[in-house]
Amino acid sequence: MAHQCSTVAVHGGEERRKPYGALTTPIVQTSTYTFASTSEILDFMRRKERGDLPVRDEYGRYTNPTQTTAERKIAALEGGARALLFASGMNAITTTLLTLLSSGDHMVMVEGAYRRTIEFARELLPRWGVETTFVPIDDPDALKEAVRGNTRVIMSETPTNPYLRVMDLSHMVEIARGHGITTLIDSTFATPFNLRPLEHGLDLVIHSATKYLGGHNDLLAGAVVGAEELVQKIEATRGVLGGMSNPNDAYLLIRGIKTLDLRVRRHNENGQFVAEFLAAHPMVSRVHYPGLVSHPDHHIARRQMKGFGGVVSFEIEGDMERTGRFIDRLGLPYVGPTLGGVESVIQQMAALFSLHREDREEAGIRENLVRYALGIEDADDIVADLDQALAGI
Ligand SMILES: Cc1ncc(COP(=O)(O)O)c(C=O)c1O
Repeated sequence: MAHQCSTVAVHGGEERRKPYGALTTPIVQTSTYTFASTSEILDFMRRKERGDLPVRDEYGRYTNPTQTTAERKIAALEGGARALLFASGMNAITTTLLTLLSSGDHMVMVEGAYRRTIEFARELLPRWGVETTFVPIDDPDALKEAVRGNTRVIMSETPTNPYLRVMDLSHMVEIARGHGITTLIDSTFATPFNLRPLEHGLDLVIHSATKYLGGHNDLLAGAVVGAEELVQKIEATRGVLGGMSNPNDAYLLIRGIKTLDLRVRRHNENGQFVAEFLAAHPMVSRVHYPGLVSHPDHHIARRQMKGFGGVVSFEIEGDMERTGRFIDRLGLPYVGPTLGGVESVIQQMAALFSLHREDREEAGIRENLVRYALGIEDADDIVADLDQALAGI
């Protein structure tokens, strides 16, 4: 029976009868798993060779029962056959790309990706003979033209950071089809509540589970979801590179996901409310939020997504110093670089690039750009706080 997101978030992936009759999934805090005898090991090896999977837990770098439950829950949420958990979102991305790409291969990456993902493609992959072409998010012709005979991966994010640009997934799927190209989407900002990329024909979905999936700013994790055969290949690489998560974070993730549906609904409501408030404010020159009709990708977002998310970026009337002053006048959000948790977090994007002005200019980040990753606090309180801070500058 197909369930709604909230039911899957609570029950998906979990055994009904758990050890000790426990209601919640136990944290299995062990690095390894023992065998009763040598003959049990030999039997295990034979089953493994035959591909009788899943066999059983063997060693903590390969599997862990708490982690397996978190993986099943994420797979159920995304509607995928199989998910893998990693120590971080970056670990999920790098392990996946190192599985899919070999020396002499080419990747097309849609602009606007997380800066460490770009750094991996630009600085590290060329060392192993992999070249990447970057294309604008709103130019399907450029995407098509960038594909070569040796292109193996098309990767994008949606929505992107900080301008919340929305990738039209149908373009990725159409262009990749029939060319042996794997399509990969980092859906961290969207969450499985707002977007289910596999239903749009994508091959793999990646999350920084540190963000909305975990939801409480208390864990680091990454995930990849897709078809069994493809995910098994990535699992083999994970076993070598060693980027497993750990049982405690897996437990926190299972617990966090249980309220994903409730939280993302609130993030969506707060996002729309705050974006509309800011768009009407005389001290705000631009607001970037896919739920606003003024956003360049509003029509794609409406077609593709169930909600528009909890991140709102905006430019205030002012320079570097005045923007910083505005942020410092706010009483509600924490100042910092993350998103997706219950607490609101805000940052002046230019402050991140203060040591690398050229990188900031290349990324098109203006001095007055603010990224507000809204939490699940009351929308009226968030707006009242913004109102007083804007009035004060
Ligand atoms: C869209 C996106 N993908 C991936 C990452 C990396 O995830 P993590 O910090 O969990 O390694 C981040 C942020 O850090 C992100 O914003």
